[in-house]
Amino acid sequence: MAHNITKDLIDIGVNSNDFELFEGQFNLFHGISYNSYILMDEKIAIFDTVDIHYEEEWLGNIHIFLEDKKPTYLILHHMEPDHSACIMDFLKDYPDTILVGNMKTFQLLEQFFHQEVKHKLVVKDQDQLVLGTHTLTFIMAPMVHWPEVMFSYEEKEKILFSADAFGKFGSTEIDDSWVDEAARYYFGIVAKFGPQVANLLKKLTPLSINMICPLHGRVLNKDIEQYIHYYDLWSKYEDDLDGVAIICASIYGHTGEAVDVCMNNLACVGAYSVKYHDLTQEEYSYAIADAFRYKRIIFASVTYNNGLFPNMNDFLSRLIEKNFQNKIVGFIENGSWAPMAYKCMKEKLSACKNITFVEPVVTIKSSLSEENIKDICDLAENIMK
Ligand SMILES: Cc1cc2nc3c(=O)[nH]c(=O)nc-3n(C[C@H](O)[C@H](O)[C@H](O)COP(=O)(O)O)c2cc1C
Ligand SMILES: [Fe+2]
Ligand SMILES: [Fe+2]
Repeated sequence: MAHNITKDLIDIGVNSNDFELFEGQFNLFHGISYNSYILMDEKIAIFDTVDIHYEEEWLGNIHIFLEDKKPTYLILHHMEPDHSACIMDFLKDYPDTILVGNMKTFQLLEQFFHQEVKHKLVVKDQDQLVLGTHTLTFIMAPMVHWPEVMFSYEEKEKILFSADAFGKFGSTEIDDSWVDEAARYYFGIVAKFGPQVANLLKKLTPLSINMICPLHGRVLNKDIEQYIHYYDLWSKYEDDLDGVAIICASIYGHTGEAVDVCMNNLACVGAYSVKYHDLTQEEYSYAIADAFRYKRIIFASVTYNNGLFPNMNDFLSRLIEKNFQNKIVGFIENGSWAPMAYKCMKEKLSACKNITFVEPVVTIKSSLSEENIKDICDLAENIMK
């Protein structure tokens, strides 16, 4: 996989297809990459390490490309172990390398490894490091996943090293759409910190960027404004998809039937795109991303033990934890003796900012009645108004 991206910039990252889940929760159907780069100059810089399972491959890539040359710097953009795990073994091979990070980077380094490092350079926001013809400027990006995160910007080639930002799930061997897997990554992992992402984007405004090198997913070397535009919308919790997302939790299928009817009605009233997610069948990250990306959401759930079905309860908790807001929301509930799902869902969502609730609420008792079908039709019409 290791190869030149430009004459002086080398991709030494690794692809992983060995794990089903990322962070123990997000499906990795098409793997993930842990990216790392070498910038060749009078002084050689390496950017980040990789997940511990790929240490041998990564160190091998470095040895192949550097031959008998030695790196002067190892830049640490993010201390989460998927990017920092190989630091100490790297230092065994290259003991004179200077580790570059901020104050918080080195606090975390001490906590993870409990080892003194001999050579370190502590940098602050906007500090510069001259490598030869290339110059790096460090940009602190606190909470663009973790508190120590920083980006660096290389002036000559106009490269932004963006840590987890602009990254995606999926190995770099897969030529898939950036936006869907980048959205699933963003809303799964970073969405809680929208204001911090927005702050960071402001800092990037004056920079002319030719290339973004994230820590996951492919290098982005064209249409840079488009990627920044998505991050701008997402950081402000604004939708980027027109239409309706329907999130459903049904046990025996009657609530699911109501959703089918609703989808037909939505098509009739001109919903251009309708996306359906079944919380009893799917890992939630797909539905979470769509709940954030669509402006209009219909939640359909059964009642369970006098409360909300656990999958829907858990799903809503995850949305709320990520600052879910700015939505137009409708509800379909089902209960065979005392429907409670709507009350529970509405109560949970009332903690969120700027949610418009659309009438009518569809209350099904066991299976669809004529009246339910009429209500579903009205709900579809009203949510599209
Ligand atoms: C374990 C279990 C607990 C349930 N608890 C309630 C309840 O407390 N109140 C209620 O009205 N219905 C309850 N129901 C009925 C569900 O809401 C029922 O599945 C629904 O009415 C039919 O919709 P479905 O076909 O989409 O599953 C329960 C069902 C199950 C399987
Ligand atoms: Fe991270
Ligand atoms: Fe990461």
